[in-house]
Amino acid sequence: MCGIVGYIGNKNCVPILINGLKRLEYRGYDSAGIGIVNNGHSDVIKRKGKVSILEKDIEKLNLNSNLGIAHTRWATHGVPNETNAHPHFNSDKSIFVIHNGIIENYQTLRKGLQKFGYQFITQTDSEVIPHLIDSFIKQGYNLFNAVRASLGELEGTYGLAIIYSKEPDKLVVARKGSPLVLGVGDGENFVASDVSAIIAHTKQVVYLEDGEVVEVFKDHFVTKNLDEDGEIEKEVHQISMTLDELDKGGYQHFMLKEIMEQPDSVCNSMRGRILFDEGTAKLGGLENVAKQLAESKRIIISACGTSWHSGMVGEYMLEQFARIPTEVEYASEFRYRNPIVNKDDAILFISQSGETADTLAALREAKIRGALCLGICNVVGSSIARETHGGVYTHAGPEIGVASTKAFTSQLIVLALITLLIARKRDMSLVDGQAIVKELEMLPDKISKILKMNKQIEEIAGKFKDAKNFLYLGRGYNFPVALEGALKLKEISYIHAEGYPAAEMKHGPIALIDDNMPAVFIAPKDSTYEKIISNIEEVRARKGRIIAIASEDDDSIDRLVDYSIKIPDTIRMLMPVLTVIPLQLLAYHIAVKKGLNVDQPRNLAKSVTVE
Ligand code: F6R
Repeated sequence: MCGIVGYIGNKNCVPILINGLKRLEYRGYDSAGIGIVNNGHSDVIKRKGKVSILEKDIEKLNLNSNLGIAHTRWATHGVPNETNAHPHFNSDKSIFVIHNGIIENYQTLRKGLQKFGYQFITQTDSEVIPHLIDSFIKQGYNLFNAVRASLGELEGTYGLAIIYSKEPDKLVVARKGSPLVLGVGDGENFVASDVSAIIAHTKQVVYLEDGEVVEVFKDHFVTKNLDEDGEIEKEVHQISMTLDELDKGGYQHFMLKEIMEQPDSVCNSMRGRILFDEGTAKLGGLENVAKQLAESKRIIISACGTSWHSGMVGEYMLEQFARIPTEVEYASEFRYRNPIVNKDDAILFISQSGETADTLAALREAKIRGALCLGICNVVGSSIARETHGGVYTHAGPEIGVASTKAFTSQLIVLALITLLIARKRDMSLVDGQAIVKELEMLPDKISKILKMNKQIEEIAGKFKDAKNFLYLGRGYNFPVALEGALKLKEISYIHAEGYPAAEMKHGPIALIDDNMPAVFIAPKDSTYEKIISNIEEVRARKGRIIAIASEDDDSIDRLVDYSIKIPDTIRMLMPVLTVIPLQLLAYHIAVKKGLNVDQPRNLAKSVTVE
């Protein structure tokens, strides 16, 4: 989604802003722009397309300034072009504004401002903001108060960074619904929508809360609430992320690097959290609420996309072992359908980024309704992690590829640990708990073994890269994996794919099967194996082409399918951690063979911060 970076200090901000934008590229964008103020003079440069295009043109101008803001845009209102790119400005270009989020009442504001002679040159919702600020400055407000007064008029969401050529000692930032962090430096300060944009310069960060407006100077900053005058004390956090973690580490794409990292990321998700002797898990972030969680009458899991798929696996785990009724809800639906939430319900919000607007909105709704709200997030200090009553970080490390891979397997590990924790507090025996722990500990080696099949999977991908449609079929714990496999293929290869519970195939999708339709069966040897073999026979009878993800000792499946990928076994609840890996690789190689931009698929953004 859109990215923000800003700088104030003694250095030339231009290279800092451009590098910051490059670090934000992974979030997905269609245009980029930069605004600077220097000796009462302001400059704005915007370009459609990649940051490198903007960078090239800026180099020619030889700009130098100590104050600037920059933006990568992911269009919501108005086509992606140079005019609609940020920063937006008032008529004399003295005020520059960059904005993440959506201003819902922009039409009304625009009409009102037009009556006072303000002229609009873009199709965006954001352009009302500089004009609104301008109108307050003309009434005698200083920048900070003009921003606060303007925010009072806005409905919707925003992460904002604003500079004004007549007050060149500051930038003003504000947050409501779109993430913003301050980076605290020595005689310089930074702002960004994502720490990755400023990590090269400082590791001291301050997370802004909704409703906060900050005046950022080069050597200090002043935070206030939108409608109160007192200064708010902000805590400075030290972050541990390194620049190396944000690089490709020799791989062609972030997605491949992140797939290959899974033996480590899965290990990191468990590290220090397993108590073998007690056959349970130790999760610091749930310590204060573990009893309440184990006694909850119902668990709701709310998430979007890939995180929603891991939630579905979580439902199976929690119902099988913790024996607590569990429901999984799309966060976007949960919020708007007046859900029944009781005080003795626990709600788990799963989000890699911790910033997904739909999930955050669902969390806020659930909190109002009095439920225990817990987070499973990857990004430390993210909004969902901070606003929940407790939670567990997945510790998968930064995920840059837009298609989520290692975050998914780490979410599964955390869900297994939470299941273990609750189940052992309820009626799971020590022996059963220890059996799960033992299997958990063996997963990293088994993942490594599957990753060694990369070449074989690449060859299979070559045979299917021109397919127009795909079906993914699985049963039980592997049904959500079928959904996830289909999502991975869709989002990076633009091939239409659907995931189905294998048994449902005969209730409709079987009509699609012919010799052009590949079907991927997730068919490890578990209690549903015989049934899924029957489903494979049904596809075979209709000449469908079949790829099977099967158990390593399953020789008999080869006579039924065109290609098989043999993987190690584990217990059913953990099988998705293994079965999903070949599907990630299959989608990756198909997209690469089609020559597509795997890390930044069209129309997609890494963190969806608009509803
Ligand atoms: C798919 C993908 C998305 C995200 C979804 C939720 O590969 O990345 O479907 O899973 O947008 O994002 P988070 O987990 O950040 O809330």
